[in-house]
Amino acid sequence: MTDWPALQAAAAAAMEHAYAPYSRFPVGAAGLVHDGRVVSGCNVENASYGVGLCAECGMVSDLHRTGGGRLVAVVCVGGNGEVLMPCGRCRQLLWENGGPVCALLTPEGELTMAQVLPQAFGAEDLDAAAARHPA
Ligand code: THU
Repeated sequence: MTDWPALQAAAAAAMEHAYAPYSRFPVGAAGLVHDGRVVSGCNVENASYGVGLCAECGMVSDLHRTGGGRLVAVVCVGGNGEVLMPCGRCRQLLWENGGPVCALLTPEGELTMAQVLPQAFGAEDLDAAAARHPA
């Protein structure tokens, strides 16, 4: 069982470091890694709006910086500590690093990545295409 309150608290702590002067919408993300580590990140915006980084980007960077591994549970929160759904792009990031069984805390409760990103594109699709069209 995931300790969701602890993971949500880690996300809220990360959110406090958000740099969101343009949207004024701070976000924090926290993930439990298969080995028990907790990784986290916050959104970091930019005057060139389109290159801003979502909180999940920072969390995934933290995952790799601290040794890699697989995400087994993730939660994102907004400025009041409330649970947020990851944006579409970030669901793809979570898929890459957690796969279909990674748990996500959502405003509707715990769901799997397979439920929030059905028919996801992933590494197997690249492998399948390579097999169909050998070099
Ligand atoms: N944001 C995230 O950090 N993660 C999400 O999944 C949704 C959106 C950020 C991006 C931007 O800095 C702000 O929230 C408003 O969209």
